[in-house]
Amino acid sequence: MNGPTSQSWVEDDRRHVWHPYTQMQTAPPPLPIERAEGVYLYTTDGRLIVDGISSWWVNIHGHNHPRLNRALAAQAEKMAQVIFAGLTHAPGARLAAELVARAPGDLPRVFYSDDGSTAVEVALKMAYQSWRNRGESGRTLFVAFDDAYHGDTFATMAAGGTPAFHAQFSDLFFTVLRARTEASAARGTESPPLGEILERHGERVAAVIVEPMLQAAGGMLVQTPAFLREVREETRRHGIPLIADEVLTGFGRTGRLFACEHGPIAPDLLCLSKALTGGYLPLAATLASEEIYRTFLSPDRGRTLFHGHSFTGNALACAVARESLALFEESDCLGRIARLGAIFRERLAALASHRRVTTTRAFGGMAALELAPASTGGYFDDVGPRVAAELLARGLLVRPLGNLLYVLPPYVLTDAEAHWMFDAIAEVVAAL
Ligand SMILES: Cc1ncc(COP(=O)(O)O)c(C=O)c1O
Repeated sequence: MNGPTSQSWVEDDRRHVWHPYTQMQTAPPPLPIERAEGVYLYTTDGRLIVDGISSWWVNIHGHNHPRLNRALAAQAEKMAQVIFAGLTHAPGARLAAELVARAPGDLPRVFYSDDGSTAVEVALKMAYQSWRNRGESGRTLFVAFDDAYHGDTFATMAAGGTPAFHAQFSDLFFTVLRARTEASAARGTESPPLGEILERHGERVAAVIVEPMLQAAGGMLVQTPAFLREVREETRRHGIPLIADEVLTGFGRTGRLFACEHGPIAPDLLCLSKALTGGYLPLAATLASEEIYRTFLSPDRGRTLFHGHSFTGNALACAVARESLALFEESDCLGRIARLGAIFRERLAALASHRRVTTTRAFGGMAALELAPASTGGYFDDVGPRVAAELLARGLLVRPLGNLLYVLPPYVLTDAEAHWMFDAIAEVVAAL
């Protein structure tokens, strides 16, 4: 809505809202969005903005999708939310069965939570308590990888390997051993290979956590299937559960429904969120192997997994997630992602030789280019905000990770829109 009403809520925002991942003193004012449709966001002052990052990597079918809207409205007519301990409902039960049927390997047990961080938090707790329930209480270590990002709660920050985000809190973290990846080895990390860590400390390790194939927040770093297979082989050899954090990669982003399929590997725990509801509502799921689940079964109530959130298994979110999954399969999303990937690769190839572009990479429905640093390099480099502002002025919303500019759009982006996006990027990069 234009005019005085929009003015007043924008003022309310300015006075009262503390935005996420935002330096409130220096960030430009947030864009006031009135409505969204397909890949477009409409601002209150009538601008049309292409959502180049799927609204923080969640939206895959486009905004305001008629089928997701109908599924949401239909469920709202019946029931929005009930306690999920002691009660159950069809959307939660059906969605669980549908996820299990599609998950990599054999993960028959589904635990719901609210977002990516909680999906990972639950997996870490399951792995840890599972050992304790078996009488092995000395397994207090986790292993995670260089450049990992698993969320912003304390346990997930501890597992993360991106100091730019979380170094402030590191005094409070539990111990996480850090293993190298292919990308970090190439830049000369001191972190040892996973095999070496497990050889030395394996008997004290509760679980290994990996973002299969693509470390997104850590810099859109792509791995090989061979690396993923090696992680699985090492963990299996030492009898240690492997947690696959597919919060970002799940639901097609890497060109397969789940990134584990690239290995292919089967994890012991799988974390899903983000695109699970097509980007409509917060919902997460942690899928567990029968073996882990069974360690919690006991006449002793002390062995229960004492974890739950007020909105666990929210019926609206589960109903929309089911519809999103149906839409994913009926609309040949994987074909669409492959097509977008081909355009991304072609357009990146043309940009790769630019003097300010240091490297490019594309994988599934993601394309990234690293720009020569303008100041500090890394996450706090000034080139990111500058490029973001220039692209926004042309109608493209991006959120560079420092000097890494990437796009990760909804899969419904058309060929013409994809080319338009890269035309805008080429123009801005040329002017750097
Ligand atoms: C791999 C991965 N895990 C976990 C998270 C945390 O998810 P959320 O922001 O929904 O808590 C993210 C978020 O970007 C992620 O990319």
